[in-house]
Amino acid sequence: MATTSVSSPLRIGIAGLGRLGQRHAEALAFRTRHCNLVAACSPVASERAFAGEQLGIGRLYDDFDAFIADPEIDAVVLVTPTSLHANQTIAALEAGKHVFVEKPLALNVADCERVLAVAERHPAQVAMVGFVRRFDPSYMAAQASVAAGEIGQPFLVRSQTCDQNDPEGFFVRFAPTSGGIFMDCSVHDIDLARWMLGRPKALRAFATGTTALHPALAEFGDVDNGLAIVEFEGGARAVLYASRTMAHGHETSTEVIGTAGKLTVGEHAARDRVVRSDSHGVRHAVVKDFYERFETAFATEMAAFVAACRGEQPLSLTLADALEATRIGLAITRSLHSGQAEPV
Ligand SMILES: NC(=O)c1ccc[n+]([C@@H]2O[C@H](COP(=O)([O-])OP(=O)(O)OC[C@H]3O[C@@H](n4cnc5c(N)ncnc54)[C@H](O)[C@@H]3O)[C@@H](O)[C@H]2O)c1
Repeated sequence: MATTSVSSPLRIGIAGLGRLGQRHAEALAFRTRHCNLVAACSPVASERAFAGEQLGIGRLYDDFDAFIADPEIDAVVLVTPTSLHANQTIAALEAGKHVFVEKPLALNVADCERVLAVAERHPAQVAMVGFVRRFDPSYMAAQASVAAGEIGQPFLVRSQTCDQNDPEGFFVRFAPTSGGIFMDCSVHDIDLARWMLGRPKALRAFATGTTALHPALAEFGDVDNGLAIVEFEGGARAVLYASRTMAHGHETSTEVIGTAGKLTVGEHAARDRVVRSDSHGVRHAVVKDFYERFETAFATEMAAFVAACRGEQPLSLTLADALEATRIGLAITRSLHSGQAEPV
């Protein structure tokens, strides 16, 4: 089992050095306190070269089993394709490591349950899923406000994850392993909705979608713009929108509506606090992608993982939350395909 004392830095290994993995690796190597990024694993030689040359990591693996058997690693950060998350999390827990795994935990409920069962057998190890918005300062402030009763009883969450259009279609190549737009993007909004609404049980979901710019997604049963409604026990509702085709930038925004007020987070995708007013109108710059929007939150998330592994600060985000997010995301995806409301 991982033996981490509060006095020694946590020794971390990262698996997956793609679009997000490289960002996590840079943050762990250069900007996260109380840890050392000591190992990296990727089947791709250029990614291992990046880890060795750019990050100075000495322990490089092309084989995941050899990576998690390394006794010099206390904790692993898994930023691998979603279809691998469950089995890799289980293997790493069984090898005695703390685990951070990117969202979603898995693409079916049975896989999530397998992870939960293994994590229960290893209670001294941390197992954390990367719902990064829980570490964003604005979302944290909004949730604290809801929890303090400032908007009365929250009953409706309207939340969207909208990416700027990528003409090269990274996400089309990503589609076979991502689980589709709702499992990939809306899973964040699903977790947010549950967090803001006090973790109610989801009952039923309805979804529809359209393909505005990327017809190649049809081969994977996916769309580039998706809409969903989730009904929760007790009357609360969530309305979700996910898009891959925004013209202006990345716009993640959320409204939480309560009986005594409402909160809005992230409207208009503003990059900074500068508003230009001139003869063309009134405008501001926008964030271009999810990383620019959530860079601070990703850093706080990693710091929270390290602190949890070192026994300094427990996590409020649980694997059970991740299981519910997958369960709801799957019902939404079934509804997209069936055209009917689906039980969660
Ligand atoms: N939290 C967020 O906002 C957010 C944003 C983007 C991606 N993600 C998640 O991060 C994960 C990775 O996404 P990405 O966009 O970086 O994908 P990507 O395809 O760019 O990267 C995947 C990486 O995994 C590596 N890999 C593949 N098989 C492996 C194996 N067996 N062992 C080790 N490495 C292996 C690949 O070489 C690649 O480096 C996905 O689960 C995705 O849902 C989360």
